[in-house]
Amino acid sequence: MALILGLESSCDETAAAVVRDGETVLSSVIASQIAAHAVHGGVVPELAAREHLKAFTPVTEAAMREAGVAFSDLDAIAITQGPGLIPALLVGLNFAKGLATGNGLPLIGVNHFMAHIYGAFLDGESHRLAEEKTYPLLALVVSGGHTSLVLVDSTGAARQLGSTIDDAAGEALDKGAKLLGLGYPGGPAIQKAAADGDPKAFDFPRPLTGGAGKAVPRELKYSFSFSGIKTALLYHSRRRRDAGEDFSGKWLADTVASYQMAVVDTLVRKTFLAARDFGAKTVVVAGGVACNKLLREEMANRIPRQVELRFAPPKYCTDNAAMVGGIGHHHFIRGEFSDIGIDSFARLPGVTRLPFVGEKQTKEN
Ligand code: KG4
Ligand code: ZN
Repeated sequence: MALILGLESSCDETAAAVVRDGETVLSSVIASQIAAHAVHGGVVPELAAREHLKAFTPVTEAAMREAGVAFSDLDAIAITQGPGLIPALLVGLNFAKGLATGNGLPLIGVNHFMAHIYGAFLDGESHRLAEEKTYPLLALVVSGGHTSLVLVDSTGAARQLGSTIDDAAGEALDKGAKLLGLGYPGGPAIQKAAADGDPKAFDFPRPLTGGAGKAVPRELKYSFSFSGIKTALLYHSRRRRDAGEDFSGKWLADTVASYQMAVVDTLVRKTFLAARDFGAKTVVVAGGVACNKLLREEMANRIPRQVELRFAPPKYCTDNAAMVGGIGHHHFIRGEFSDIGIDSFARLPGVTRLPFVGEKQTKEN
């Protein structure tokens, strides 16, 4: 049995969680900084770092208290090492180093991107990862910082098939919401404002899907691009303003519904294209945008037969530390600990292996 304290500070959530054996979440505490950043319409890295500095001790104490454990009960501390905002990551990394050193515990640096995928297997579902029939597994990681398709085989070998060549899907939703004056974060705001709108009212592009007669270059077959959708929204809004009308009523609901559908439709098409081409048995959707209701519905309605669809539960879609403590367990049982001198990283290094797959093979070898 292993008890891991997970810590997370890659963006604007300060989070701590205590996780047993990589699947039982004893506590998961999240302090959101949304209010602090909302006035700026997006996350300000230095402000995020200062907020993490204030929040880490109370958030960690709350997670330990809720789990009913002491530091002497823990086996390791797992911390998000990257990718993310460097000033924000550094605060968490230093906090984790202090806790690990002070309590004589090993430190485990965790990849935020892989932790998001792992979020779909928390709460007693991690046995699925040991089953051959789960693979090939295709993961769509879709958040404010990422939009990537990763293919994983039953040995844990992973490769990124494609990612966004410009904005992430969440970023497109956040920027779109800002443009329309809907506030931050944009994803939930757009979902709400789109509720009564007609998703077919306006035709926004579906970049790199081969629509509108535009061929997709081979090397971009599984890549995404969302800046064109955002630019289309900008022109659409300008036309409205030039006509002397404001952004409200039916126009707003229809605009937002159509914009959301363009983002979602693009994600669904690309994911299932890759799932078909690579014979995926499981499709996992993770990251903040995986909270989106329309994405969940469209994925479920359009999934090819024989493919199992797994969404992380909403509480593990947006940034949290349960996914960090969970994946940390798999590094722990492999004896993969980090040096106390580890640094943060802003971008995703090549994804070549997922630590939580192929456990059986590793143990037997
Ligand atoms: O995973 P996350 O918390 O942070 C990153 O690692 O980026 O994702 C945040 C992103 C934001 O862009 C936010 O607008 C989006 O997730 N998001 C949503 C929803 N909830 C959060 N997007 C669409 N619909 C939602 N319900
Ligand atoms: Zn994230």
